[in-house]
Amino acid sequence: MTTIPTLAEGRISIRPLRLRDTRDLDAALTLNRSWLRQWEATNPNGFTSHDVRGSIRSLQMNARAGLGLPFAIELDGRFVGQLNVSGITYGSLGSATIGYWVTEDAAGHDATPTAVALATDHCFSVLGLHRMEICIRPENGPSLRVVEKLGFRYEGLRRRYIHINGLWRDHFCFALVADEVPGGVLRRWASGHVPAGLGSVPPEALAEAERPFPV
Ligand SMILES: CC(C)(COP(=O)(O)OP(=O)(O)OC[C@H]1O[C@@H](n2cnc3c(N)ncnc32)[C@H](O)[C@@H]1OP(=O)(O)O)[C@@H](O)C(=O)NCCC(=O)NCCS
Repeated sequence: MTTIPTLAEGRISIRPLRLRDTRDLDAALTLNRSWLRQWEATNPNGFTSHDVRGSIRSLQMNARAGLGLPFAIELDGRFVGQLNVSGITYGSLGSATIGYWVTEDAAGHDATPTAVALATDHCFSVLGLHRMEICIRPENGPSLRVVEKLGFRYEGLRRRYIHINGLWRDHFCFALVADEVPGGVLRRWASGHVPAGLGSVPPEALAEAERPFPV
């Protein structure tokens, strides 16, 4: 079992997602249906569960197996979204993936980049992971801004990578390895030392993502 910490910076904090969050999570998902739907992972076999309590349980089971860290994101102490570290792999890969969302009324307050920076710094400095990855649909401008702000490095285009909103969707992949941020992601961002252009998607990748697939 990996301990899931509570971490905070200014108005934003991340803390372990609990069964007690079921009602807040359910309300946030219902109220933000149209805001979230186009970016939500779906089941390619067609069955989509709306069992919010069950989904928290399943994330907690995954955490107990050491494979993930399910966080709630809070803004001024209010539940506003989720950040999941998933696919934790130790050993020669030392890697994990981050996914996130916030409610529409909490958008634009730096909640997500702050949450990602806190979680990434924890994974590097406490869990000893080596690489953190974030994958984003080319159409998701706000999410591309999150990785750009933090200086996650653009790595490439993954065709038809994740099943989102009913179809296999292309994703741009971004990553950071611990060596790139010896002082931490949060500190690098807060001190204005994110190298320009790191998280920008090159024009040829944007053009490739526009091309039909299979080619
Ligand atoms: C993507 C997302 C997580 C960004 O979270 P956030 O906490 O708002 O992040 P930021 O505050 O850094 O804002 C990022 C950008 O979103 C845009 N934005 C801000 N407020 C917005 C709003 N009310 N509506 C739409 N976009 C907005 C701005 O371009 C902002 O960049 P800026 O700060 O340079 O102006 C959030 O928009 C979201 O949850 N979207 C729906 C689910 C989703 O896309 N999840 C990610 C899948 S990869």
